[in-house]
Amino acid sequence: MKPGQPPPWSELRKDFPILDQSVHGKPLIYFDNAATSQKPRAVIDALVRYYERDNANVHRGIHELSMRATTAFEAARARTARFINARSADEIVWTRGTSEAINLVANTWGAKHLQPGDVILLTEAEHHSNIVPWQLLAQKTGAKIAYIPVTGDEGTLDLFTLDSLLTSQVKLLSLVHISNSMGVVNPVADLCARARQRGIVTLVDGAQSAGHKPVDVQAMGCDFFAFSGHKICGPTGIGVLYGRQEILDQLPPYQGGGEMILTVGYDKTEFKPAPHRFEAGTPDISGPIGLQAAMDYLDAIGRENIWQHDQELAHYAYEQLAALKDIRLFGPKTGRAGLVSFLLKDVHAHDVVTLADQGGVALRGGHHCTQPLMHKLGVESTARASFYFYNTREEVDRFVEVVREIQRFFAQ
Ligand code: ALA
Repeated sequence: MKPGQPPPWSELRKDFPILDQSVHGKPLIYFDNAATSQKPRAVIDALVRYYERDNANVHRGIHELSMRATTAFEAARARTARFINARSADEIVWTRGTSEAINLVANTWGAKHLQPGDVILLTEAEHHSNIVPWQLLAQKTGAKIAYIPVTGDEGTLDLFTLDSLLTSQVKLLSLVHISNSMGVVNPVADLCARARQRGIVTLVDGAQSAGHKPVDVQAMGCDFFAFSGHKICGPTGIGVLYGRQEILDQLPPYQGGGEMILTVGYDKTEFKPAPHRFEAGTPDISGPIGLQAAMDYLDAIGRENIWQHDQELAHYAYEQLAALKDIRLFGPKTGRAGLVSFLLKDVHAHDVVTLADQGGVALRGGHHCTQPLMHKLGVESTARASFYFYNTREEVDRFVEVVREIQRFFAQ
């Protein structure tokens, strides 16, 4: 990549072996990136190299392979801190993904701090993984859940209600950065600042943002930030919880077991400091190593460049779909992230996805793990095209042509 020049997008696409194939006799167009991203050769090679040369358990061994594995595992933690501008690697906890990161906060911070009558404030556009852990916690603690409303099909937050919702009972604000079903980009820095003024702890679900735009947790001002490796070109099964050091240090362990202890007696255990206190048992070791390769790869392209490319494609797709008859589009008209959700009149979203697949286009149809939001909008599901930097305008043109073919098929 030459400094100051736009990334060579069509060359980068060649880094992804999986994209070079046909599906049902048509060139694959992969538009299911909000569900999971594809992996560049650099990530695949890092995983193979680790298993071929360095594989051993971390932290416990003093032989060469164990030390190599431990060094790589902890280097990935430091790299992750730099990726989101955390102050220190000690603020990075490995999890299985965004869901586990949120569950970890619910089961440690939430279990320690919440009392009956306290309020957990969410938004109506949350993924199930930022609703269900809080419902489970509310059942255990007697806390209540309140929601910042969304405005309708645009999916943006109705922030006029915020002051009345930020009562003295609210102890936590947990909200999505980029909505996976609407493509809304929430003003998280502003919301975290307003929460912080009232002493409210904040968690930002960054599953759809971390690999798509620059993320700076210090500038964002959140207490916790969660994301998944597999949505940012890394492996599945590895995720990240960022927690502000002062908060992490005060939390009880998440799970008990090996690795997270200093000393164990038959009656009593002393725990390691954060982040190791939260990582019981042998961790996913190749996951952070693959994730580090993914972060290096993305930062060589530049997340500003990726963000611009994602948004341009999404607006191009939105404008073209908006020109069709008998289509309902979701999400904001401007400022959307790299995805478009839609419904065709009298066609189920699953039929759209099935027929698109026959045309080589991988979409997703369903409630996108945002069932309460779908109910609010009066729909069961939407079809969704979600983009990444390896997607092209030509693919969007083909996708829109496929949508037209589907409309013609159902009009017969
Ligand atoms: N949360 C992922 C999605 O939106 C699975 O598709």
